[in-house]
Order: sequence, then structure tokens, then C-alpha cells
Amino acid sequence: MKDFNYYAPTEVVFGKKSEEQVAALVKKYGGTKVLVHYGGKSAVKSGLLDKVCNLLKAGGVDYVSLGGVVPNPRLSLAQQGIDLCRKEGVDFILAVGGGSVIDSSKCIGYGVPYEGNVWDFYLGKATPTKMLPIACVLTIPAAGSEMSESSVITNEDGDVKLGYSNNLSRPKFAIMNPCRTFTLPPYQTAAGVTDMMMHTMERYFTKDDDMDLTTDIAEAMLRSMKDAIFAVLKNPEDYRYRAQIMWGGSLMHNGLTGCGVSDDWATHQLEHELSGMFDVTHGAGLAAVWPSWARYVMHENLSRFVRFAVNVMDVPNDFTNPEATALKGIEAMERFYHAIGMPINIKELIGKEISDEEIKEMVRKCSRNYQRTCGCLKVLQAADMETIYKMARG
Ligand code: NZQ
Ligand code: ZN
Repeated sequence: MKDFNYYAPTEVVFGKKSEEQVAALVKKYGGTKVLVHYGGKSAVKSGLLDKVCNLLKAGGVDYVSLGGVVPNPRLSLAQQGIDLCRKEGVDFILAVGGGSVIDSSKCIGYGVPYEGNVWDFYLGKATPTKMLPIACVLTIPAAGSEMSESSVITNEDGDVKLGYSNNLSRPKFAIMNPCRTFTLPPYQTAAGVTDMMMHTMERYFTKDDDMDLTTDIAEAMLRSMKDAIFAVLKNPEDYRYRAQIMWGGSLMHNGLTGCGVSDDWATHQLEHELSGMFDVTHGAGLAAVWPSWARYVMHENLSRFVRFAVNVMDVPNDFTNPEATALKGIEAMERFYHAIGMPINIKELIGKEISDEEIKEMVRKCSRNYQRTCGCLKVLQAADMETIYKMARG
């Protein structure tokens, strides 16, 4: 079992009236002048943005706002946010939205006190020692950024999508009202659940498989999400299951399902090149890559894939043929993805066959010019990445 630090400092305020506490929470964590950061339309259309701003006003908290964050959030908007925060003397950032808005907020938070270009952190050229505190009012359960230490930003110059992780960026608080997710379209709901399940699967498919408690927690969460997604696709206003998905998204990425095990993240790394190049929804990109990754690496720990097939995907265990059981588990996952409207290969994801040149470019970027490997269940070299992309072509 691996030694571990479990650090999940975010105060979670969960429930139907949770937004009401926003001004008190900002003050509790020292905010006096807030940047309210948000996305394209949904928070405006639903009235959430107005409600949050009015609550801040009524609570005596001064604020400025900046909208326009798009999925796969762009560096240029974060740079505008950094300039705005400096000009306005902002000391606290409140993200109203999903992973993209929260990640953009984290990027702004890093950039404000830093004299250089905030992209340096994502390139690994510098490490922040301080940042503006951030918090969020979450509107889509998916990325888990509301409790995580990561942010993922796309630099339009070259369409390079890079993640950066630092505990400084864990949100001070996360307000989660499941009713706010009733308006999510089916595709975003399903892509969100796919993403959160993958955050746990990245930690589940490991060689350190002697931490039974973590494994049991992971399997229970994966099974819960599998049930909950069908309930909310049938009835988008099902509070009980929207709530479970919302809390699941946080628990599946706040480190809990990584305690005592190593983590892989190859599927995520391979996917980031897809959403960087084709601007697709991250969760859907994961579904397009995972089955091919799984078939390619399953012999590295076959018993783990058998356990997944049996305990998560309800496949009967063929004790005489573990490979067949493992493969049936992967096929069952593909059927699950299709049942919730997710793709299982790149052609289904982007609607056309990806070219050899595009695959080569993704491999070049994913391997950082052939200088880095990905994953740990099987350490992927550039040639392995190319094989997986070709298997996933469809
Ligand atoms: O911009 P609006 O109009 O708000 O629309 C958004 C967006 O189009 C919409 N939406 C959000 N809440 C809604 C809603 N529509 C109706 N009703 C609501 N209540 O949903 C769309 C997707 O939003 P986005 O924030 O992009 O989704 P998500 O939370 O999946 O975030 C995706 C980003 O997070 C990164 C991904 O790579 C991607 O860039 N990730 C961040 C991680 C982290 N920070 O820890 C980890 C993840 O693995 C992931 O890589
Ligand atoms: Zn993810």
C-alpha cells in the first residue's frame, strides 16, 4: 500500500438553499472585493448569476464580474481576468459555473500575484507560492474542480491544453445546489458522469491493488453513478439522483478514491489532446478513448479488470477464462456509454475519421515532443499512444 496525504480542505455547502450563504462564506474566507466569474449562457438564463450578485450586494460584498468562459477554457480570457483583478483590487474569486469556469478562476488566481506569464505554471517553468483564494457555486457535476487541486487551460496559440495541479488552488468553499443541475442537457449530464467515473477509474486501474477499502469505496461509487445517470436521464428533475451525482462528482476527484494507490491518468492525457485539437466535451472524449486504452493495457493487471467486470459491470465471472471476463467488462462499459449517449471511439466523437497526420500531431503533443511518457499501469511511450489512438479511431 502506498503512503498518502489526504488533503480536502474545501467547505462543502450542499442543498436546496445553499446559495443563500454566499456572502457570509465569502466574508468568512476573507473576501472583500470579489471577481464573479462565469460562462456563456446557462447561469445568466437560469437567474443564478443575478441571484448570486444580489446576495453579495445585500451582504455588503463589493464585486466586479467577468463572463464568457467557454468549455475547454482559454488562456486569453484568464489573462483578461488577471488584468481586471489587478485594476479593481480584487482579493477573492467566485466561480459561478462548472469545471471550465472554476479552472479559469484558478488560472486567474495564480496569475494575479505573479509578475511573469501565468502560462509558466502550466509549462512547469515556475511554481506559484501564493494565489488569490477562490470558491465556487457549482452548476454542473463533472470535472470535480470544486474540490480538486487541478486546473486545465487551453492556450489558443497552438491549441495546447495543459493541466496544472497545486494544493493552493483548492477552493475555499463549494456551494452545491442539485436543483441548479436540472437544466443540464442530457449530453452534458452524461459526459459529466463519464468524467467523474473516469476520475475514479484512473485511480482504480493500478498495480497497487492491496488497499481494499479504497477499492470498495471506488466500486460503490461507480455503481451508484451507473444507476443515478439513468434516473436523471429519464427525469431531469429527480432531486435524489441529481444530488447523488453532484456529491459523487466531488468525492470521485477529491483524492478519496486515490488513498493508498497510485494513479494512472493516461486516458485523461490522451483525451486532453482530443479536446485541445477538436474542442470536444472532455467527458465524451474520455469515453472515446477508454475502451481502446483498456484493451491495450489490461494484461498489466488482468485480475483488476476481472474485478471491475464482475463488481462494477455485473458480468458473470468465468473462472476458467479471466481474459474473456475482463473483455466482457470492457464491452459492458461500451454498452453503458452508448446507453447514455456517449461515443466509444473517435469517429463517433468527432463525426469523421481522424487522419494519420492528426494522430501524429496528438502523439507529438501528448508526449511533449517525445520527451514524456503517460500512465503507470502501463507506462505509455509515444508508440503506445499512437497505437491506442489508432485502435480508438473507429
Ligand atoms: O457556458 P454555459 O452556458 O454555462 O454552458 C455550460 C457548458 O456549455 C453548460 N452548463 C453548465 N452548467 C449548466 C449548463 N447548462 C445548463 N444548465 C447548467 N446548470 O455545460 C457546458 C459544460 O460546462 P463545463 O464547465 O465546460 O463542464 P465541465 O465541468 O465538464 O468542465 C470541463 C473542463 O474541466 C476540465 C476539462 O478538461 C474541461 O476543460 N477538467 C478539469 C479538472 C479539474 N480541474 O480537476 C479535471 C477534469 O479531468 C477535467 O480535465
Ligand atoms: Zn476528467
